[in-house]
Amino acid sequence: MSVVSVVDVEKANGVLVIAARDILTPLAADRAKELNVRIERAGDAKVSASPTVASVQPIVRPLKPAPTAAKSPTIESLIQPGALSGALYRRGAQVPPKMRVTNDSAPKTQDDRPRAAVVGAGHVGAMTALRLAETSLFSRVLLVDIVPGLAAGLALDMWHSSGLRGFTTQIEGSTDLSALEGAGYVVMTAGRPRQPGMSRTDLTGVNAEIVGGVADGIRRYAPNSVVVVVTNPLEEMTYLMANRTGFPSKRVIGMAGVLDSARFCSLIALEGVARPQDVNAIALGSHGAEMVIPLSLATANGRPIEELIANDRLAAIVERARDSGAEVVKLLQKGSAYFSPAESAASMVAAMVRGGSPVIAACVQSGGAYGLADTRIGLPVRLDANGVKEIVTLPLRSDEQAALAEAARSLAKRISELS
Ligand SMILES: NC(=O)c1ccc[n+]([C@@H]2O[C@H](COP(=O)([O-])OP(=O)(O)OC[C@H]3O[C@@H](n4cnc5c(N)ncnc54)[C@H](O)[C@@H]3O)[C@@H](O)[C@H]2O)c1
Repeated sequence: MSVVSVVDVEKANGVLVIAARDILTPLAADRAKELNVRIERAGDAKVSASPTVASVQPIVRPLKPAPTAAKSPTIESLIQPGALSGALYRRGAQVPPKMRVTNDSAPKTQDDRPRAAVVGAGHVGAMTALRLAETSLFSRVLLVDIVPGLAAGLALDMWHSSGLRGFTTQIEGSTDLSALEGAGYVVMTAGRPRQPGMSRTDLTGVNAEIVGGVADGIRRYAPNSVVVVVTNPLEEMTYLMANRTGFPSKRVIGMAGVLDSARFCSLIALEGVARPQDVNAIALGSHGAEMVIPLSLATANGRPIEELIANDRLAAIVERARDSGAEVVKLLQKGSAYFSPAESAASMVAAMVRGGSPVIAACVQSGGAYGLADTRIGLPVRLDANGVKEIVTLPLRSDEQAALAEAARSLAKRISELS
């Protein structure tokens, strides 16, 4: 009897004949499959290295042993019982379920992980919940929606994918805001989206009522949470959320700048100058007409974008980025964008939990930064586990600074009209 190893398989030229009592190691069996090497035991029928249909069919065992039916052994059946020691697993080799590592970011003690909640299980909310769960940074993601069964059904469906995607965050759904208890991060997505022809401010009345009610629930059940507001109109709803919860301004952050920056970078990439991830730009000001994208700071592969793309073309791209939401709404005819908004919101929450956040754009209270009127506006910030760590001062050109000041004045006016 001898042990047949990977080396033996690799040396074989299509067929490897082994003795009846030889031990074929799991690695060797695995390698044989990869190289399509047929293993033949002396005296046995030939065995194909690729698993046969028979080898994956459930085996129905007869009550009495069947009389000498000739069995065609599979590769798995050639592996000696107990040989799956778990030791020496080659990279890429099949790993027994017990050993499978689900996600690198899953901590050893699951209870240490924070909890996140998403209010509104519509398009943006559901996708945000899934994106958050997929990071495995949270012990639980709770989805809340007023429609009975919607959040629970979606949460269960998402949880069914946990093994396939390899995440360890539990997802649950509820109709009740009391389920927010214990949440360290809450993403607010409840509210009406735009329909074709609507501006974001057309949503103010209906969404202000929804945000007000949810804010009361957050204050009551998750009083120490950091809230990321997604509901439109973004700046007004971020202000309202801060006002109604009474949370310090660093704990109520609006999501728009990450999305608008990403949209601009993706559109620049369509010009063929760089991949989206190699374009660096930041969208400040409002999530709408007063959006300011400082082109003086924008780069592609580290080169100033103004040197790569003509001015009139750049102006058209800025315009398209500013109107991207409406462009999607018009195409969809019903509902608004949600893949990139959800990715943006989830990435902000993940950045807080991971720490060491890069400079991103977020809707925050300006509080004297950039010499602006005090309002909620998109500015460059760094985040940490407690929300906004700092507003970052970037060297804006005078025209960009003037556009930002104009945006702040418009937003301050709209917010003052809210009450
Ligand atoms: N900030 C951004 O960049 C950005 C991007 C995309 C969408 N949005 C906004 O996000 C919001 C959601 O968009 P969507 O596409 O997911 O809409 P949607 O209609 O698909 O989902 C909204 C969900 O909110 C739920 N809801 C309503 N009132 C609620 C309440 N009181 N409590 C709990 N749930 C409630 C609804 O039942 C619905 O399921 C809209 O206001 C939209 O304009 C913002």
